[in-house]
Amino acid sequence: MVFKKKEKRVPSGFNTINEFFDYLYKKEDLIWMGQNTNHLQKDKGIEDALIAGAKKRDYCKYPPPEGFPELKELILKDLELDPNLFDVQVTASATESLYLAISTSLYHVTNTIASDPGYLIINNFCNRFGNHVKEVPIYNEECGYKLTPELIKENIDMETKLIVLIDPLNPIGTAYTKDEIKEIAEIAKENNIIVLHDITYKDFARDHTLVAKYAPEHTITIYSFSKIFGMAGLRIGAVISSPDLMRPIRASVINDLGTNSLAQEAGIAGLHSKSSWIEDIKETCFKNQELIKEAVDETPGAFLPVYPSDANMMVIDISQTGVKPEDLSEYLLEEKNIFVREGNYTSKRFGDRYIRVSYSIPTSEVMEFRNEFKNAILTLQRKNKK
Ligand SMILES: Cc1ncc(COP(=O)(O)O)c(C=O)c1O
Repeated sequence: MVFKKKEKRVPSGFNTINEFFDYLYKKEDLIWMGQNTNHLQKDKGIEDALIAGAKKRDYCKYPPPEGFPELKELILKDLELDPNLFDVQVTASATESLYLAISTSLYHVTNTIASDPGYLIINNFCNRFGNHVKEVPIYNEECGYKLTPELIKENIDMETKLIVLIDPLNPIGTAYTKDEIKEIAEIAKENNIIVLHDITYKDFARDHTLVAKYAPEHTITIYSFSKIFGMAGLRIGAVISSPDLMRPIRASVINDLGTNSLAQEAGIAGLHSKSSWIEDIKETCFKNQELIKEAVDETPGAFLPVYPSDANMMVIDISQTGVKPEDLSEYLLEEKNIFVREGNYTSKRFGDRYIRVSYSIPTSEVMEFRNEFKNAILTLQRKNKK
């Protein structure tokens, strides 16, 4: 096993990365555009389920190891997947689901195809359990900023076992069309490869298709309650696959005594109420994207590689402004109380070209970003000249 986890840069003014995140977490007036969490979720049902569960002190018992059957059923219903063909393991997050899926799919001689940019934690896991990860550069217009079926085919070899398909993609927000998904499903079946379909941001997309529908025996689907459900701090997610692929996953579950029962109750409530709030959240997100676009359009040298984004985040390319992403994120945090993320969190190759901003936050807060962005770039350009 090889551990290749890259050390995170500690922002100036902090001793450790943990101290930095603790500061952010506790700063209540912070404009939170640096992590793709959802601050628009106001559903009373989720809150009530947490309070009711806590009041009953249900948490003195261990919940069932695979997850509450009601939650498992609701997840499959949400995805419109047949319970006779698919099984669900509830986990303490999409991150845990990814770890379980990757550790049981890869072997020290097998390799993975992933996109660059992408969500680097996934690649860390793949490097740990498999031989190597082919990080395919997709930060260009020719491929539409996507890991296209053509790029996948070009990169497959005899030892490829996993295709990481983040859809919509963190950080760019591209989503795959039904035709692309069908083609990727065919590639997986023909080559006996597993598609790791990370659908963490699915519900922000205008349209979405599951690979599992077209390659049920070759897909592991990764599900999170952190984003549209606004439950990131509750740490709950799921992994969904055919019973055959689930067998090794279930055998390697660490948390054999189940997943946080209150988080599961909240998940059940959120799935029941979802149809009543999802459109409002999506609408606000698309409106917020427009405001960010206005700010970017009036800033010479900055541009949006992908617009609109199908996720709750997007990339702003600032490479032609001469301003470094880490300088911009540090300036916005220190001077304007706005938390954004520099690109090197999501790409080793292209991370020095962009910042990533999330916008599932109140529109009034996005307005502050809209008002500050151009000035921030101009101020840093002046500083650079001195
Ligand atoms: C693509 C992707 N997968 C998984 C996660 C983690 O989700 P969770 O909070 O459920 O662990 C993230 C978080 O940002 C993500 O971007």
